[in-house]
Amino acid sequence: MSNQILKGKKGIIFGALDEKSIAWKTALRCHKEGAQLVLTNAPVALRMGEINKLAEEVQAPVIGADVTNMDDLKKLFEESMKHFGGGVDFVLHSIGMSLNVRKGKHYTEMDYGFNQKTLDISAMSLHRVLRTAWDLDAINDWGSVVALTYIAAQRVFPDYNEMADAKALLESVTRSFGYHYGVRKKVRVNTISQSPTRTTAGSGVKGFDGFINYAEKMSPLGNASAEDCANYIAMMFSDMSRMVTMQNLFHDGGFSYTGVTGDVIAQMEK
Ligand SMILES: NC(=O)c1ccc[n+]([C@@H]2O[C@H](COP(=O)([O-])OP(=O)(O)OC[C@H]3O[C@@H](n4cnc5c(N)ncnc54)[C@H](O)[C@@H]3O)[C@@H](O)[C@H]2O)c1
Repeated sequence: MSNQILKGKKGIIFGALDEKSIAWKTALRCHKEGAQLVLTNAPVALRMGEINKLAEEVQAPVIGADVTNMDDLKKLFEESMKHFGGGVDFVLHSIGMSLNVRKGKHYTEMDYGFNQKTLDISAMSLHRVLRTAWDLDAINDWGSVVALTYIAAQRVFPDYNEMADAKALLESVTRSFGYHYGVRKKVRVNTISQSPTRTTAGSGVKGFDGFINYAEKMSPLGNASAEDCANYIAMMFSDMSRMVTMQNLFHDGGFSYTGVTGDVIAQMEK
């Protein structure tokens, strides 16, 4: 079903790695809702070639950019503006990567060099993207930027490791840059805090199966799927949410406000 809520809008989608990616599902939904898209990912991810299938389906060019490289980002925005014949209306930042998790380093013995890279890729990259768009005046008035985050920014989930700190920083950049972009151009910037979801990035978290089952039992509506998340993001890109900015929006079936559930009590009584 489509209501064409993004008809006439143009956007850049970061982070579609394969068909499980939240960004992949979001590109499909935005296309269905009438948007024109540019897809981007790190050159190493593009070499997998999967993204070309998506590009064909949503009729979008693919422009490579390592999100930690300012020259790549400048080229991405310049080429996108040329492609669209003007500015963009929305940007999805769907990027996350933890070097310490990848290298099996416990939080208490993290490598600080890895940590700097993690924070750059997963959090300061949002600043880099917004700064590039700001310098080129690439986002139209009332444009909407969404980045994806996780509740480990507010509460401790031990195996989420350094990504908890990265998400806290990402949410802070969202508020801080959101203020300036709002004042200057009415551009809004928000994070969506998504349920655990079976994707490449998600499955990198230690004990993910236990984690996702626990969240399912702790959410009155159950875990939100990647498709549900894509729908929410499309709504945030639409004019229906134009006065929402600098927020962290929980999209988690009620998990964030649930203390305990009947299911979990029943498990504990076994
Ligand atoms: N899957 C979950 O459980 C879950 C829950 C909440 C939030 N999130 C967040 O959702 C976002 C998307 O993750 P996903 O679950 O769809 O996994 P995913 O692995 O499909 O997507 C992560 C993307 O980040 C990209 N990326 C990594 N380094 C990059 C770089 N240097 N430059 C450009 N792109 C780079 C990868 O290529 C990949 O496309 C992430 O921010 C993640 O933290 C995921």
